[in-house]
Amino acid sequence: MKGIILAGGKGTRLYPMTKCISKQLLPIYDKPLIYYPLSILLLTGIREVLIISTPEDTPMYEQLLGNGKKIGISIEYKVQMTPRGLADAFIVGEDFIGDDNVCLILGDNVFFGQNLSSTLWKAAERTKGATIFGYPVKNAQAFGVVEFDDQGRVLSIEEKPEHPKSNYAVPGLYFYDNRVVDIAKNVKPSARGEIEITSVNNVYLEMGELHVELLGRGIAWLDTGSPDGLLKAAEFVEAIQSRQGFYISCIEEIAWRRHFITTEELLAIGEELKMTDYGQYLIDLAKTDQR
Ligand code: G1P
Repeated sequence: MKGIILAGGKGTRLYPMTKCISKQLLPIYDKPLIYYPLSILLLTGIREVLIISTPEDTPMYEQLLGNGKKIGISIEYKVQMTPRGLADAFIVGEDFIGDDNVCLILGDNVFFGQNLSSTLWKAAERTKGATIFGYPVKNAQAFGVVEFDDQGRVLSIEEKPEHPKSNYAVPGLYFYDNRVVDIAKNVKPSARGEIEITSVNNVYLEMGELHVELLGRGIAWLDTGSPDGLLKAAEFVEAIQSRQGFYISCIEEIAWRRHFITTEELLAIGEELKMTDYGQYLIDLAKTDQR
């Protein structure tokens, strides 16, 4: 399975913060926002990643993450000339996807929680159809929303409905079989002129091949769409990290625990960053060598 991180967009809702820097490069406490979705791909076991961004921002992602070799994965980059909607990721990423199945994660989505990895593995193991998630939120009108019948069967997915039919929003994490490329190409642009991921999901629903997994209250799906959301996400990460001593979404740690890199390689990355707590954390992990 391949992984795509969509890190485009102008981030206008965060101006002036994002006037000259991509939103997904802003920090959430001690690391850039894009580390969080990247860590989700790594936890899923995905080692071939495509980052899609704007012509201006793509070089900055390349500077930050390089070709991925350092953490034992491969990272490619592709420029999206104009933001045409989330489903455009599969058209821009067609050559990268090739004959594989694909996981798409939005560059500003932060997830954390117990048993998250097993949920991800289960979705990745499904070779046919699509898997998306449902997460209870108070402001469902801001998202794609799942409608259920009395038996809990999914009836529809609606994009930003004025009157949401449930409080289950669809987070920006999607697993698809290879047919998604053709489906995306045939989706008609919505009223806002975008090829919506919700339209893709509804095609799978009509085929009877859409799986919606509900995420429980033990999982955090954090909003980073406003200054408030950014601050709260940073506070959340700081609170957990300082209490437990374990870092959230530390891509080098995950790569090491997944055996993508050796303990020596982890130590070398830690040494480069040794002037920071982040670097010291990596050094400590390498020294204890318990994974
Ligand atoms: C997008 C999707 C929406 C989804 C959300 C998750 O919305 O269109 O269905 O619920 O991401 O973050 P956007 O953030 O592009 O407005």
